[in-house]
Amino acid sequence: MKHSLILIAFFSFSIGLSAADDKSKEMQMPEIFISGDADKGSQLVESCVACHGVDGNSISTDWPKLAGQNQKYLLEQLKHFRDEERNNVLMMAVIPYLKTLSDKDLLDIAAFYSSYNATVGQARNDEELLSLGTQLYRFGNMKEQIPACTSCHGVYGQGNNLAGYPAIAGQQIGYLTSSLKAYRSKERNAGESSLVMQSIAENLTDNEIDALANYMHGLYQ
Ligand code: HEC
Ligand code: HEC
Repeated sequence: MKHSLILIAFFSFSIGLSAADDKSKEMQMPEIFISGDADKGSQLVESCVACHGVDGNSISTDWPKLAGQNQKYLLEQLKHFRDEERNNVLMMAVIPYLKTLSDKDLLDIAAFYSSYNATVGQARNDEELLSLGTQLYRFGNMKEQIPACTSCHGVYGQGNNLAGYPAIAGQQIGYLTSSLKAYRSKERNAGESSLVMQSIAENLTDNEIDALANYMHGLYQ
């Protein structure tokens, strides 16, 4: 019974897809993303260094690394902060400054941070936590409706540049933990993409979040 339901679901999905294909054929545009100018960006980040480091590698576990992050994702998030759709007490300090910047300036900042490499993190060697983190990250948990994280964030946590899915490899543990909890509580709700993560984080327990954060922190590309 279960199998036939899945098949029906899959079948309608395929039909839906081909119908959508026909409709959107004329409107389809190639995905183009024009990179920013990292040199120009380097002139705009003076007020960011204290927390995000000179090369986008922050030193506090609670502050995100921006180094090596894809430009599309960084640009989106910078717009969310500037337009006060994504809120954070510490980032609040730079919002008046961000408001003086154009979209092109934000893209240049994104290009600047993207041009560096994220430093490698070290996962805590707790066997149980590691095995839960590995399992969930790679395969998800069908019963709990948790999809594999690899499908969007990549096997090595490299993310997806074209789609703008963030890299999470080596990201700070404190930040990974608070982000997943902020999606779960729906506090982090800027932009449509956040809904994807809200619906995934909804099904995660605190222990699963700890395990995933530990695993992602230790991933490297
Ligand atoms: C006082 C510390 C502080 C300063 C200064 C600061 N940030 Fe942040 N930044 C943070 C924290 C903390 C977060 C995480 C916010 C959250 O949890 O939602 C963050 C998040 C971000 C993110 C999103 C990262 C992600 O992975 O989603 C970007 C992009 C960013 N900051 C860029 C900047 C830029 C550009 C500046 C300078 C104009 C700046 N920040 C200044 C602390 C700071
Ligand atoms: C269907 C694609 C998809 C899947 C599957 C997925 N994610 Fe995400 N993830 C995203 C997108 C898109 C964002 C950016 C959301 C936003 O704009 O707030 C994101 C953001 C994140 C962030 C915040 C990154 C940052 O720098 O702030 C973390 C942490 C994260 N995901 C962890 C996970 C984990 C753990 C899993 C598996 C349990 C997972 N994701 C599964 C697409 C996905």
